[in-house]
Amino acid sequence: MKILVTGGAGFIGANFLNRFVPRHPEHTFVNVDALTYAANLRSLEAIADRPNYGFERLDLVEAEAVRAAVERHRPDAVVHFAAESHVDRSISGPRPFLRTNIEGTFNLLEACRAVWPAGAGIFHHVSTDEVYGSLGPEGKFREDTRYDPSSPYSASKAASDHLVRAWGRTFGMTVKLTNCSNNYGPLQFPEKLIPLMILNLLERKPLPVYGKGENVRDWLFVDDHCAAIWTVLHHGAPGETYNVGGNSEQRNIDVVKLLCQVVAEETGASAEELGRLITYVKDRPGHDLRYAIDAGRLERELGWRPEETFASGIRKTVKWYLANPGWVSDVRSGEYRRWIDSHYGGGLGGGLGGAPGGGAI
Ligand code: NAD
Ligand code: TYD
Repeated sequence: MKILVTGGAGFIGANFLNRFVPRHPEHTFVNVDALTYAANLRSLEAIADRPNYGFERLDLVEAEAVRAAVERHRPDAVVHFAAESHVDRSISGPRPFLRTNIEGTFNLLEACRAVWPAGAGIFHHVSTDEVYGSLGPEGKFREDTRYDPSSPYSASKAASDHLVRAWGRTFGMTVKLTNCSNNYGPLQFPEKLIPLMILNLLERKPLPVYGKGENVRDWLFVDDHCAAIWTVLHHGAPGETYNVGGNSEQRNIDVVKLLCQVVAEETGASAEELGRLITYVKDRPGHDLRYAIDAGRLERELGWRPEETFASGIRKTVKWYLANPGWVSDVRSGEYRRWIDSHYGGGLGGGLGGAPGGGAI
């Protein structure tokens, strides 16, 4: 198969490519990415020279360029990761979310429709559990839970899910959707909770916890998400949606305290001293209280289940950030952008930092 991966220079896309490009020399992987602030080509160094891997800079908002790229590559499958992905940024500036997540997805669907006769090709849309809105203390999101998004990010992802399903029903495109809970692991940009806290801990910076830290997320190690996507891409039923989750609900404050503990153990620091960095800050507007996924369908029908526990995944993640100071310092200093700009020219994306509570990135 020739697999077109969008957003492969971001967190999950890079983990996906690093995992499957070496394992599957029989498949060709073409990574198209606009290289926004969230992209880092250094994350793909290990596979950059593989004969079954290629990279092309492409902004999905540019309809004609997307059409030309899909026409040129004529992929057998598309795995669509590319998105603006950070809720806080969607609150401070929603427009790029509407453009990339909605219009970009539309452009990609149209480009695929032009080269695929009905039923040919697979369009796999990587989406989020945030489309379902917020849960109270009980219950879990199922595939038939009503959409009720709260943030501009989740509303834009909900819109893109609807577009993908519509292209399946109306134009006969073979579409598959996965809606996944919060991911964590290596290569995640330090604007999201877990890498932000790890890096702030290493630099002894305050750990900004929104509100009372009682919001709950259902954490999934990124490798488990990538394995689920691969399973659905190859074995999922056309037109169907599968929820992906780690069965690992945690309150934010407990996540932050665990990170203090693990960073202390891994670096020889005092957990008590690190815990004093916890700083409660103003809550996020529209902050969903709780997410929890029922991933039973994926397990029953396709045999997927997560391999990593939260404790083992968090330790792996902390160890990875400790073992990769070059990646971290490039991201912190902005060096990763300078490299991209010198190779590809600047001008795209929202620039560095600026995320509320995001510290100096
Ligand atoms: P990310 O922000 O780390 O990476 C997104 C990538 O998309 C970047 O490389 C960026 O350059 C690229 N991109 C952005 N706009 C683009 C455009 N207009 N054209 C082409 N490329 C563009 O995101 P991530 O965390 O890796 O998330 C990947 C996907 O998974 C997203 O669709 C997201 O909604 C979904 N998802 C993420 C999580 C999570 O916890 N991170 C959970 C569930 C679902
Ligand atoms: P985040 O990683 O931004 O993912 P999402 O908003 O998509 O769930 O945030 C995870 C949780 O952590 C969320 O409830 C908001 C909270 N949070 C903080 O308390 N402080 C922070 O600095 C960040 C970035 C997030």
